Amino acid sequence: HVRSRRQRQMCIRDRERRASIMQIPIIIDTDPGIDDAAAISLALCHSKFDVKMISTVNGNVGIEKTTANALKLKQFFNSNVQVHRGASKPLLNQIVDAAPVHGESGMDGYQFPPVSESDLTSVHAVEALKNLLINSEEPITIVAIGPLTNIAILLSSYPEVQNHIKEVIIMGGSTGRGNVTPLAEFNIYCDPEAAQVVFNSGLPLTMVGLDLASKAMFTYDFVKSFKEVNETGRMLYNLFQHYRSEDFDIGVKVYDVFTILYLLNPQSFIVKEADVQIELDGKYTKGATVVNFNSQYPNCSVVLSPIGSEFKDIFLSSLKNCK
Ligand code: RIB
Ligand code: CA
Repeated sequence: HVRSRRQRQMCIRDRERRASIMQIPIIIDTDPGIDDAAAISLALCHSKFDVKMISTVNGNVGIEKTTANALKLKQFFNSNVQVHRGASKPLLNQIVDAAPVHGESGMDGYQFPPVSESDLTSVHAVEALKNLLINSEEPITIVAIGPLTNIAILLSSYPEVQNHIKEVIIMGGSTGRGNVTPLAEFNIYCDPEAAQVVFNSGLPLTMVGLDLASKAMFTYDFVKSFKEVNETGRMLYNLFQHYRSEDFDIGVKVYDVFTILYLLNPQSFIVKEADVQIELDGKYTKGATVVNFNSQYPNCSVVLSPIGSEFKDIFLSSLKNCK
């Protein structure tokens, strides 16, 4: 824990230095997902990021749909990023989905042109992640915005990759209430055993939980303004109208996008160190993230809230980089 705390502190200082001068190599592990689409859009288009790979996981909808949605975004941005299909189910848990929130396709609301399976790289995501990391000249940041199944399998199968991972930015968990059960957030709830593996890996971790998006809602007028920006803004506006996580008229919680906004400007957010453990047994509490800010052995930096409304400026200036 001490090693990882020092590593995390070095990580944050290094990120602030890097944030001003050079590209951040990242991998996006994702279950698109309407809020995933916003995060992926910014990452693919922003010059600060070198997106090395997109790996898909079962989550919001099944693996075939999350993979097809990743390919739709790859095609939309005419990106040459490689997409690899990952885990089709949690380590142990039964499959649950969030189709009621994201629509049957997982990205309802915008008519993407059909994609072909030929765009999909045949190697399984976990193998591709291992190969990419082992052969990378510099450590890579993993942005995990779906259930942590792929990452847990990767770390358990190939522990040697840990030295090639700079840090893991996780959209998941909550310091308080959940959004699937009273105490569990969706990504953790889907695969709590995988989350326990990752949170106890000793890797530098940053948890971007429900707390942040709840304090940084995208209001209806803010989302409507996207239409005037560009084609990506219009695509996201249409997706958000079908994103039924909240009442669109009062605003939406675009959870995943905050992993990218945080990486772009960590200084625009309040962060606290904590020990985060995953409840695996409780009948009513399984999947809860138990966040202890008083621990002597923190394993995670927890992003709690935005500073002012800077996040909107970061989002809009990033959106303007898109097509
Ligand atoms: O709880 C929010 C998370 O679950 C987001 O990543 C959303 O896309 C869903 O996967
Ligand atoms: Ca997601």
